[in-house]
Amino acid sequence: MSEKLRVGILGGTGMVGQRFISLLENHPWFEVVTIAASERSAGKTYEEAVGGRWKMDTPMPEAVKNIVVMNVNEVEKVAAGVDFVFSAVDMTKDEIRAIEEAYAKTETPVVSNNSAHRWTPDVPMMIPEINADHAKIIEKQKERLGTQRGFIAVKPNCSIQSYTPALAAWKEFEPYEVVATTYQAISGAGKTFKDWPEMVENIIPYIGGEEEKSEKEPLRVLGTLEDGEIRLAKEPVITCQCIRVPVLNGHTAAVFVRFRRKPTKEQLIEKLRSFRGLPQELELPSAPKQFIQYLEEDNRPQVKLDVDYENGMGVSIGRLREDHVYDWKFVGLSHNTVRGAAGGAVLCAELLKAQGYIAAKQ
Ligand SMILES: NC(=O)c1ccc[n+]([C@@H]2O[C@H](COP(=O)([O-])OP(=O)(O)OC[C@H]3O[C@@H](n4cnc5c(N)ncnc54)[C@H](OP(=O)(O)O)[C@@H]3O)[C@@H](O)[C@H]2O)c1
Repeated sequence: MSEKLRVGILGGTGMVGQRFISLLENHPWFEVVTIAASERSAGKTYEEAVGGRWKMDTPMPEAVKNIVVMNVNEVEKVAAGVDFVFSAVDMTKDEIRAIEEAYAKTETPVVSNNSAHRWTPDVPMMIPEINADHAKIIEKQKERLGTQRGFIAVKPNCSIQSYTPALAAWKEFEPYEVVATTYQAISGAGKTFKDWPEMVENIIPYIGGEEEKSEKEPLRVLGTLEDGEIRLAKEPVITCQCIRVPVLNGHTAAVFVRFRRKPTKEQLIEKLRSFRGLPQELELPSAPKQFIQYLEEDNRPQVKLDVDYENGMGVSIGRLREDHVYDWKFVGLSHNTVRGAAGGAVLCAELLKAQGYIAAKQ
């Protein structure tokens, strides 16, 4: 019998779900034993249910092909066979909020890729290198839900991961004003060029809801846990424009920053390179060894060269230079469907296991 924790993927047939399945192939701690999706897929084998929709570069893992897909809405039945679930279902926000809570109430921890619970006060929204301590709010959540081990944890939006780690690394210089423009890949909309041909040689200056998330979510991630509450960081104020560009994977951000305590370029680079968090200390299986790389060349970071840095779990920063309006400007890059989606959620789950929040059901 495997010692690994038994994992279910809610929405496992979709694009993010497929990414979870791929990332968890041969995972040392977790084993995918259950996949759930809509009633359209329920009762079919995973291979049949996904059909021609497999969007990963690597082949579908053999171990999941014959798993019979269950219906996400049959909560008790799905929860009965797993120790915890990853959530990547696409439903209305209200439906997602309700169903994730229903799973938590069956004493099944939920690590979610969805935005539905990102602003629920007692749900931690985590980038594990930055705010691992926010996991403590789970105790309060369990009291509200009346559970012993069931809870929900979420990861933030993919767009913020290209600049928030740098802001965290530079905390002691007190960044207080940030102007960011993100150049976001089409996989962030669950698409490839095959199913979104209009994006070839095109730019679309609108991504629904994205600018608000990009401005506000970093403040929760950079916030502090005080008196049993996550208090939002008051600074930096962030203004953001989000642009869809003809790139398959990789969100780039061009960012301007003002600091209260003026750093030198050497200090900024040193802080990026030395920034480490609990995932690195604990050597979690999906943790990048070097979370942030700083690239000196003028033409980096580039999507084609740098998006897969540290297996898509690292963040690349470059083009750091003084600005005559703001203090400093830089360009950041992160992999939106790995660090920004499923990979970030897998790292959260590893951290929560290491912290004792996720364990095998007795
Ligand atoms: N794509 C990204 O990079 C990205 C990044 C961050 C967040 N997200 C969020 O992650 C979620 C999933 O995105 P995605 O791109 O993977 O979507 P997707 O490819 O459309 O997949 C959606 C999944 O949800 C299931 N589903 C849809 N309607 C359902 C229903 N009424 N009841 C039960 N299951 C249902 C689908 O099952 P069937 O196959 O049976 O239809 C499928 O498994 C979304 O909420 C999205 O906003 C996506």
